[in-house]
Amino acid sequence: MSGVNEIRSAFLDYFAKNGHEMVPSSPLVPRNDPTLMFTNAGMVQFKNVFTGAEKRPYDKATTAQKCVRAGGKHNDLDNVGYTARHHTFFEMMGNFSFGDYFKERAIELAWTLITKEFGVTKDRLLVTVYHDDEEAVSLWKRIAGFSDSKIIRIPTSDNFWQMGDTGPCGPCSEIFIDQGDALQGGPPGSPDEDGDRFLEFWNLVFMQYEQIEPGNRVNLPRPSIDTGMGLERMAAILQGVHSNYDTDLFRTLIEAVAHATGVAPEGAHKASHRVIADHLRASSFLVADGVLPSNEGRGYVLRRIMRRAMRHAQLLGAKDPLMYRLVPALVREMGQAYPELVRAEPLITETLKLEETRFRKTLERGLLILDEETRHLTQGQNLSGDTAFTLYDTFGFPLDLTQDALKARGIGVDTDTFKAAMERQREKARAAWSGSGEAATETVWFGIKDRVGATEFLGYDTEAAEGFVTALLRDGQEVAELKAGETGLVVLNQTPFYAESGGQVGDSGVMQFDDLRVRVTATEKKLGDLFVHHVRVEEGTLKAGQTLELLVDHGRRSAVRANHSATHLLHEALRQVLGDHVAQKGSLVSADRLRFDFSHPKPISDEELARVEDIANRVALRNEPVVTKLMGVDEAIESGARALFGEKYGEEVRVVSMGTVEGRNTPFSIELCGGTHVSRTGDIGVVTIVGEAAVAAGVRRLEAMTGDGARRHLQAESRKLREIAGLLKIPADEATERLASLLEDRRKLERDLQEARRKLAMGGGSSESDPVREVGGIKLMARAVTGVEMKDLKALADEGKKRLGSGVVAIIGVAEDGKAGIVVGVTDDLTDKVDAVALVRAGSAVMGGKGGGGRRDMAQAGGPDGAAAEAALDAVEAALAAL
Ligand code: ALA
Repeated sequence: MSGVNEIRSAFLDYFAKNGHEMVPSSPLVPRNDPTLMFTNAGMVQFKNVFTGAEKRPYDKATTAQKCVRAGGKHNDLDNVGYTARHHTFFEMMGNFSFGDYFKERAIELAWTLITKEFGVTKDRLLVTVYHDDEEAVSLWKRIAGFSDSKIIRIPTSDNFWQMGDTGPCGPCSEIFIDQGDALQGGPPGSPDEDGDRFLEFWNLVFMQYEQIEPGNRVNLPRPSIDTGMGLERMAAILQGVHSNYDTDLFRTLIEAVAHATGVAPEGAHKASHRVIADHLRASSFLVADGVLPSNEGRGYVLRRIMRRAMRHAQLLGAKDPLMYRLVPALVREMGQAYPELVRAEPLITETLKLEETRFRKTLERGLLILDEETRHLTQGQNLSGDTAFTLYDTFGFPLDLTQDALKARGIGVDTDTFKAAMERQREKARAAWSGSGEAATETVWFGIKDRVGATEFLGYDTEAAEGFVTALLRDGQEVAELKAGETGLVVLNQTPFYAESGGQVGDSGVMQFDDLRVRVTATEKKLGDLFVHHVRVEEGTLKAGQTLELLVDHGRRSAVRANHSATHLLHEALRQVLGDHVAQKGSLVSADRLRFDFSHPKPISDEELARVEDIANRVALRNEPVVTKLMGVDEAIESGARALFGEKYGEEVRVVSMGTVEGRNTPFSIELCGGTHVSRTGDIGVVTIVGEAAVAAGVRRLEAMTGDGARRHLQAESRKLREIAGLLKIPADEATERLASLLEDRRKLERDLQEARRKLAMGGGSSESDPVREVGGIKLMARAVTGVEMKDLKALADEGKKRLGSGVVAIIGVAEDGKAGIVVGVTDDLTDKVDAVALVRAGSAVMGGKGGGGRRDMAQAGGPDGAAAEAALDAVEAALAAL
């Protein structure tokens, strides 16, 4: 056993044999933790199981977990390629006990696996423990037979593992291998511990506590175990190599790069090969889990990874996009362990190709500028932030790509001036705000926002509230009042009206006070959090500063709510049916229907659609609660989270979960969402999919209806079915079969009719009635026919040739529009003497046609004047006679 795939299986099999449930890797985009940008440890999917908030049907598990560490706090991106073991994507092998075994068994299991199954000798191993964990010290002594010198006590947070500022945590014990004194470095805890000699490869966390908040730590319901072994490191150890990039899996990928570029893997370009191999894995797995390159959040991290690899592809001299050509090698290596890679292969290929094609358009020019601007710089100096910004803004170079490009020469980037340039651009954008194109109208919002501040939104909890008018606008200008009959825009200090965002339409309704009645037709947001109501004053005069009763249209809001919640259910159902690569690419939630765009490379079958609909409806029918949690973005990020969710979520992150997974205590769907939702899934009523189509490469669109809209839609459909059955005079459930057989009958009748017409055209099928004349000793069958399709004329000529045995056939078909086609056929025995092409030309000329083509035995032509058909046949006869 030595290959990465075998080591992975051996690990999982070993723990399965020891009573652990083999659980698949969770997706790279965490489903149960909206605060985390990417899954970065095996325990992420079990976070709530440790705390007891979630129950699973097993209390011991083992996984090979996909992890990405790029972007945010845990960012290894900059190092990848230049070290032996940094990766953006890696696999963490783990075994977990949820209140079952604890320290002793965890150490026993780990020790046996390493020394017995993997055959690593004891004298190469050593461990660290948290400095006061005497229990762990004595267990290591007893189980491994270690002396004190092999058990290193570490007093720092290095040996106390925490998921984040909150969450499950506990002391940990790390297992190291001594790779021999040929390598630099000292043991853990020593001043030169960062060297390569002592390599940590397995972390055993003794989960004991839950950090509720800083300073407040409680015991977990039961002590538990979480371990993480770097598969790439283990493979390097077992394969006797010092770099993860020298293991079989990476060697195969690097060979694919070498093969595609013709550049040797070792030597000057070693780092580029490594970067490409590593980033290929990260990019492909991210796309498979639904992330697509974009300019914000996760998509931007992906883009940075991709573009970094693409610059290295260029360094290797690749003239055309390279990355997508490496996908098959990756799928061959890892597709069996991660079937999502196989399923998403077309999407991965397409995404990589598109991104690289696009980036290449500016890459070379950008690099040229980079060269020019740094020619005079020497080691230790910085490139100006302004140039880095131009490269970013105009040439699509993420900052880390520029930094990477200069790294080898020891040149840095002045990031302060880069940030300042970025900020200046924002300011400029603000100054030149054009929004809907009416600059003057739009800039007015900055003044209003500065004066009145953000609008407080009350509509999550209520559909009716009071608010006072902070600004009134008519024709883009602030005014003091709006009179009856006038339309304008209203800003209030607070409002229950939802403003269009996140795909959900804005609310409509009424504002009133005494005799004043104002109709709200739409609500939108300006500058992120200023709610602007579009109104028409129906009665009275609306004045700035006055207080109003605000009433959202309840029926419409309810329908929108149901559609929005159904969107979440369909999203999750689509993932379950199609795979984890399904990720939202856009949505439109209105009162009468919902539209959901998502990544998926091919059409969805009727059977898949039915399953999606079934899953969504089952959750709706179970009538389970919909729960929304609120977190500040900062709070979310601090609590372990390395997420930047972009401004569309505002200051607060709302996390909406609904339903439960059958038999488990976990939500069916969890999403970051600022929209409004039903309080129980039953409020959705029924969900029915009414359309499925492609909207862009790799993106499909689903349309669906819910509640009363869905019911009426289905009612109309079934009425149509009854009408069809009525016309067919049969019960509705026989309609499909009957229609199919009627259509078949019709096709047959059409064929028969065509055949009959042809026969009729040829004189009813008997040779006696054939109009055959003798011309200079050659039999000529000449006839003009109607009701025969032009494409059938040749068949008629062939039949005529057969009947004559020897002779010439000229058939003219006159179409309904008066145009004609002419075909002349000559039996083989006469083709020396008679040329069908010449005859057909003579005929078609009479009907105003030009040209005509074919062979000596069969030729055709056409002409606009079908009325001259008989004359044309005479012309053919004359031409034959003249031979
Ligand atoms: N959760 C532990 C880690 O990530 C095992 O190191």
